[in-house]
Amino acid sequence: MDVTREFAQGLDAADPLAGFRERFEIPDPALVYLDGNSLGRLPAGTAPRVEQVVRAEWGERLIRSWSEGWLELPLEVGDRLGAALLGAGPGETVVCDNVTVNTYKVLRAAVSMRPDRGTVVAHRGDFPTDRYVAAEVARTRGGHAAWIGPLVSGTAPTEPLTAPEVASVLHDDVAVVLLSAVDYRSAAIADLVGITRAVHDVGALMVWDCSHAAGAIPLDLHAVDADFAVGCSYKYLNGGPGAPAWIWAAPRHHDVMANPIPGWMGHADVFAMAPAYEPAPGVRRFLTGTPSAIALAAVDEGVALLAEAGVPAMRAKSSALTSYAVDLSDALLADLGVGLASPRDPAWRAGHVTLVHPDAVALTEALIARGVVPDFRHPDGIRLGLAPLTTRFVDVHDGVAAIRDLLTADDGR
Ligand SMILES: Cc1ncc(COP(=O)(O)O)c(C=O)c1O
Repeated sequence: MDVTREFAQGLDAADPLAGFRERFEIPDPALVYLDGNSLGRLPAGTAPRVEQVVRAEWGERLIRSWSEGWLELPLEVGDRLGAALLGAGPGETVVCDNVTVNTYKVLRAAVSMRPDRGTVVAHRGDFPTDRYVAAEVARTRGGHAAWIGPLVSGTAPTEPLTAPEVASVLHDDVAVVLLSAVDYRSAAIADLVGITRAVHDVGALMVWDCSHAAGAIPLDLHAVDADFAVGCSYKYLNGGPGAPAWIWAAPRHHDVMANPIPGWMGHADVFAMAPAYEPAPGVRRFLTGTPSAIALAAVDEGVALLAEAGVPAMRAKSSALTSYAVDLSDALLADLGVGLASPRDPAWRAGHVTLVHPDAVALTEALIARGVVPDFRHPDGIRLGLAPLTTRFVDVHDGVAAIRDLLTADDGR
C-alpha cells in the first residue's frame, strides 16, 4: 500500500469525475470535508437558482408563480430525482416534507392496505426516526412492533442485513416492514431484493428508507419490487440543510394508498376548497400542505448535478474512495487501536467508512479543530462520508493522516 500523498494525487489526476468539484462552492480549499453523507456541499448553481426563484418568481411574479410552475415542482423534481437515482418512472416520486413525516405517511398507508394485520417490523439498530415511527404506527393501529437485530448500544454490526435474518421475525400478522437500504452507522447495504421477496412471501409490504442509499449506490426500486421508499435530499443529493425529502410509491398501489395527513395540496382539486377530502391521483396525494418552492429549486439543482454525473460513474468513484480509506486505515491506523465498522467487501459498502476508537469523541473534536470535518456517531464511531462529486482522494489521505497524527502525538490517549 502506497501511503504517500503523491499516490492520492495520482488517483485524483485519473478521476473522471474530478471536474465536478468545480461545480460546487469550495470557499475554503484547505478544508477536508468528510461529512457529505450528513450535509452535502453547496452546488455552484444553487445560489443563482434560488436567487432567481426569490427575486423573479417570488419578487416579481408573486402569487402567479404558483400557477406558473411552483405547484408542479414537487412532482417535477420528484420525476427528475426518481429517474436519475431510483430507477423510477414518471409520476412515482414526490418531493415533500421530511423523512420522518414521509415515513409516517407511507407506514400508515401501508398498514391500512393490510387491515387484518397488526405487526410493524423494523430494525433495533436503525435510525431513531424509523424506530420511533414504526412503534407509533403499530401503537395507533392497536398492534405492536417486532424488532430485527441484536440489542446493541455500541458499535454497529458491519454485516449486511440478509433475507434469512429478516425472515426469522416474519409471520402472517406482519403488515409492513421498514428497513434502511444502507445502514446509517456502518454503510452496509442490505439485500434489497432478497429481503423484499421474503417480506412479500408472508403477504406484507416493504418500505425502504433510502436516505443513505440514494445518490450513493445504484437503486432500481422496480427491480427490487419495493412497495414504498423514502429518503432525504440533504446528504448525497446536495439539496441543502432541511431540504425536502421524497416518497416513491410502486404504481400498483397508487389507487389504494391513503395519506393519513389529508392536506389540501394532496387533494384531487386543490383550489376547489371542497367540503370533503378526495385524494389526488397517484403519488401527489402524499403532499400535505404548501411546499417550499425555494427549497424545491435547491433540490432540483443538486439532483441535476447527480443526473449529469450518472449513478454508475458515481458508484465507481465512491467504491474507489471507500476502498482507499479502508486500505489507508489498515496501513496507518490499525496499529493504533482504530477498527473498521464498515463492510470490508466494497460490494456491500455504500458511501461512507466508519472507523471506531474508544476516544472517537475527542478525536472528532481535535480533527475539526484542524480543519478536517468527519462525523461522530455515538458511542465510538468516526464516519468518513465520501461524496463522489466533491471528495478527492487527497482529502481521504489527509483525513486519515490527521487521525494518525493525533493518535501518535498524544500517548496519553
Ligand atoms: C436513515 C435516516 N432516516 C431518517 C432520517 C431522518 O430524516 P429527517 O430529519 O428528514 O426526518 C435520517 C437523517 O439523517 C436518516 O439518516
